[in-house]
Amino acid sequence: MLKLKDFVVDCDENFWAGIKNGLELTEADRDLRFTNSPIIGHLMPVPLEANTLAMYQRAKNIVELIADPPKSVIEFGGAYGNLCLEYLKLQSDCKYSIVEIQEMLKFADVFLDVNGKSADFYSDTEIDSAIGEYDLFMSWMAISETPVEYQEKVFESFLPNCKYAIIGDMKPQIPVYHEIFMKYYGNCRVIEESLPHHHKNQIILFAERK
Ligand SMILES: C[S@@+](CC[C@H](N)C(=O)[O-])C[C@H]1O[C@@H](n2cnc3c(N)ncnc32)[C@H](O)[C@@H]1O
Repeated sequence: MLKLKDFVVDCDENFWAGIKNGLELTEADRDLRFTNSPIIGHLMPVPLEANTLAMYQRAKNIVELIADPPKSVIEFGGAYGNLCLEYLKLQSDCKYSIVEIQEMLKFADVFLDVNGKSADFYSDTEIDSAIGEYDLFMSWMAISETPVEYQEKVFESFLPNCKYAIIGDMKPQIPVYHEIFMKYYGNCRVIEESLPHHHKNQIILFAERK
């Protein structure tokens, strides 16, 4: 059986120290110039228009996938909140929570405020305070980049309490995430088609508590 602890995460402490430093040096400006900055471009699609197309597609996909669209969402690695924004545009009565590194949360705060939306923010060092019941757990191109012990803690803490779960990623950990979803949900569907505006090798896993 595949085990999460057997995988080596390629984004190590040094990688994240460099990213955190770059994020700290970048201003969270209300003109949203940060969305097109090199450090953000290191982590996700830029410019903002391209990012929005991808996030809109994800949000639409979630609403189409789940007949009763989630009214409470917890997203790990939600970056500056563009998927949150696109989802809230489609489901305005949803309570959305984002877990991110502290250095990214300043951008999410400004981005959502400028766009007239809000979310609950949790730093990755305080995930215990985020534990609770949610309709949907999700993480896109993010959980696989965090330390394995952190991933284990996240899955143990959140999957038992979330009705639906989505992981979108292209990392070798995908088979083990499949097993983890099977363990917590007894099912796991691979959304075969890669979404428009997404990396063509991205695999999307979906599980639901029946
Ligand atoms: C490759 S980016 C993907 C961002 C976004 N989900 C997307 O698909 O465009 C990975 C994200 O994970 C975040 N991240 C890194 N370590 C984290 C942690 N321990 N907990 C939560 N998020 C983390 C990063 O700050 C970054 O926003």
